[in-house]
Formats: sequence, C-alpha cells, structure tokens
Amino acid sequence: DRVWSQVGDLDAAAAGRTVLIRGFAQAIRPVSKKMAFVVLRQSMSTVQCVLVASVDAGVSTQMVKFATALSKESIVDVEGVVSLPKEPLKSTTQQVEIQVRKIYCINRAVPTLPINLEDAARSEAEFEKAEQVSHIQVACSVCILFSRSWREAVRVGQDTRLNYRSIDLRTPANQAIFRIQCQVENKFREYLLSKDFVGIHSPKLIGGSSEGGAAVFKLMYNGQPACLAQSPQLYKQMAICGGYERVFEVGPVFRAENSNTHRHLCEFVGLDAEMEIKEHYFEVCDIIDGLFVSIFKHLTENCTKELETINRQYPFEPLKYLDKTLKLTYEEGIQMLKEAGTEIEPMGDLNTEAEKKLGRLVREKYGTDFFILYRYPLAVRPFYTMPCYDNTAYSNSFDVFIRGEEIISGAQRVHTPELLTKRATECGIDVNTISSYIESFSYGAPPHGGFGVGLERVVMLFCALNNIRKTSLFPRDPQRLTP
Ligand code: 4AD
Repeated sequence: DRVWSQVGDLDAAAAGRTVLIRGFAQAIRPVSKKMAFVVLRQSMSTVQCVLVASVDAGVSTQMVKFATALSKESIVDVEGVVSLPKEPLKSTTQQVEIQVRKIYCINRAVPTLPINLEDAARSEAEFEKAEQVSHIQVACSVCILFSRSWREAVRVGQDTRLNYRSIDLRTPANQAIFRIQCQVENKFREYLLSKDFVGIHSPKLIGGSSEGGAAVFKLMYNGQPACLAQSPQLYKQMAICGGYERVFEVGPVFRAENSNTHRHLCEFVGLDAEMEIKEHYFEVCDIIDGLFVSIFKHLTENCTKELETINRQYPFEPLKYLDKTLKLTYEEGIQMLKEAGTEIEPMGDLNTEAEKKLGRLVREKYGTDFFILYRYPLAVRPFYTMPCYDNTAYSNSFDVFIRGEEIISGAQRVHTPELLTKRATECGIDVNTISSYIESFSYGAPPHGGFGVGLERVVMLFCALNNIRKTSLFPRDPQRLTP
C-alpha cells in the first residue's frame, strides 16, 4: 500500500505528508553524531533529507551514522515527513525537506567514482570563475575564503565522460538532453501520423549500398557479402511503389565514414519520410515546414524545464525560426556568400565553413536560424535524385539547416527505371546490386519525394551544443565501439 513519490513533485503542498522516495545519494553531510543531511537526486530534481536522532521520530544515532557512511551515488530509499525549511534551500531543486524516519541503502556505489559528478555538471563559466578565484587565491594566499570544492574543480573531458557514460548521463543537462530527444522523435511520429503517413520498418541488413560511396559497413550474411543500411532510402521508396502513399521510419542508420568531426557518427538515428508528390516537390518542403515548426513550438512551450536545465550547463540562444519556413535557392545562397566575400564553385557543394557562414548571413538578413536551401546542382546529389525539368544540371533537391548546419537532406526521386539505371551508372553504382529496387519502378510507381533527418543533429543544433556525442546516448564514432 506504500505510495512512492517523485522527487520533482515534492512541493509546499506536500508539507506534513509522509512520503517514500528513491534516489541517488548526491551529497552526504554529517553535522554531528546526532544529525546529518543526505541529498537525494532523481532525474533533474534533488531534495534534502534531514536525519535528526530522536526517540519520538524513531531515529537512532546508529541510523545517523549509517547515513553518513553511505557512499555518494548509492541508491537510497527514504521514508519521511515533508517539511518546510526555515530558509530557502540553495543546493537543491526542491524547496522542501524530508524529515527522515527510515533510510535504506538499496545498492551501494563504490567509494570513489571515476567521474566527479559535481564537476561533470559544471558550466564552462563556473570553471572560468573557479580559475579566476584560484589565481586570486595564489596571489593573496587567502585560500580560507574559498570553498574546497571550488579549488578542486576539474573539467571532465569528453572521452572520460563517454567511457563512464552511465555516470555522466546522471548530470541534469544530460537528463534533459535525452528527454528533449525523446520529444523530438515523438513529435516527428505524431505530426506525420496526423498527416496520414504510415510508420514502417525497413531491413538494416542489405545486399548493396543505399547511398552509394564507400561509407558502408561490410559483413557476411550466410556466406554472402552484405552491408548495414546507410539509410532506409531504397526501401522507403519501394514502400511507395507498394502503394503506401506516405511512409515514415525511425531507425538506426550506419555510416562507415572516417569522419572525426563534431557532427558525424558512425551510427545515428534516422528520421525518414517519403511521400507521393501530386504536383510539385515543394509538397515535401511543406511537410518539413509544418513538422519542424510544430517540433520547435512544442519544445519551447512544453519543455521549459529541460531547456533551462541544459542552458545552465551549456548556455545557448533560443532558436530563431519563422512561422513559414524560409526557402532560398542554392544559387541565391551562393550569391549571398559571394557578396560577403566567399566564392563558391557554382556547380560544387557547400563546405562546412560556407554553410556556417550562410547560416549567419541568413540570420542577419531574414531573422531565422532555420531555412531550406533548394535546387542543388545534380552532380552533388545521390543517383536517385530527380534532375530539374527545366535544367538537368540542377536537381529537385534541398537541404535544411539549423544555425548553419545541415539537419535534413531531401528531394524528389527518379521514378522511371530507365532514368534510374542511367543515373546509377553515371554515378558509378553497380546496378546489379540494386536490381530489385530499379525493377520496382517498372511495375507502376507514382512521382514521389522525401527526406532524411539526423535526430542527434536536430537536438545538438536546437540546443546549440558543440558536439554530436553530447546528443547520442552511447555514441559510435570512428574510434568508439564501447561502452
Ligand atoms: O544527407 P543524408 O546522407 O541523406 C540521406 O540519407 C538521404 N537518404 C535522405 C533522403 O531522404 N534524401 O542523411 C540525412 C541526414 C543528414 O541531413 C544529417 O542530419 C544526418 O542524416 N546525417 C548524419 N548524422 C550523424 N552522423 C552522420 N555521419 C550523418 N550523416 C548524415
């Protein structure tokens, strides 16, 4: 019959109630033989539990001693009475205390963790402040003025964090990041379902590459060479051939790129969509517009606690976006860059630096961090991309950017087997490896188009984080296969 409470729900309205809570022991502060504090943390919330030895409350000095001997990050259950503190509490999120009646250690953590969680949760600004403080300390030799934890603050490097990810994930910012990620994924599904898309699952073990190029993980499949899917591309198109007018998929995507950058992973979560086009491929852009404006609105309106939590450790400016997403042609984009002193080969692709610069120029001119760039040169797009009807040097394709970095690429697709065979051959793809895909278009296939989104990139760029590894639960990059 015991009712468990969530730490985050404990507020003044609960004063006087007996509650049962479980959390990580974030801090343990002995005061005397008869008194101690234990701060319990659950997700992004913390509460101070007070132990005072008293016969009336059934709390013995042994219990106080037991509590002070807990190791940090142990899993602890507490039964106690909610009370209002005399003064506002600075070190916990909850503004109530728990007067402990019973305390249980459910699982004891090792005495010293490989990561200091307090440091792992500090913002860069805090470290800078701590460094200034320690300079002053050295200069004045008045160490006594400053707290011990400040003097000992050490930055926790990215690799150390990832090596001990199950600890690192406990920081408030990380708790918030993956809640935001879940919301983006959920909204993606919800919005597309409301627009009559059907969720599908395509195979990840496939016979040939889906995006072309060498970036495939090869393996043997019952004695036959195979690879891990670089995207659901060919299968989502075949589902359209199969009579589903609109489909989407959320699933893992594998890229064997040796790209050691802040935005490339070897495995990421792909949010893909594909749809019949009635008249123009801008119908696909309209879906992206409605979808992303609804995602951004949802995050801004309903995830304020998470965004504030991320902001405390990694400060960022809110994303600027328009109610109707801006669309610029690729040519307009390179013209803007040219006028700002950056020359781009007109039929080439934009490099990362040029994309970032364009992002800044668009923000200045149009007041948005989110825009679509369309009509790319055909030569820089995959073989399945539809050439423009009026000029085949260009294509009915687009990329979508947040803060000057690509989060989506999409296009109208070629839907005739003849043109598809020609384009695949021109792009150096062995058509035998994709023969069943090409054949699908000879049995009747509607004009169609779609797009692919990288989930980790959306979260990284919405929150202006500096590395995609921060938005991947257990990242896989060229160097990392564990944990
Ligand atoms: O641009 P990409 O490779 O396009 C496709 O996969 C097409 N089949 C999509 C389509 O429907 N036309 O990948 C789509 C998105 C990128 O915009 C980016 O957000 C993300 O996937 N992405 C990566 N994310 C993390 N690490 C990588 N190595 C990524 N490569 C692409």
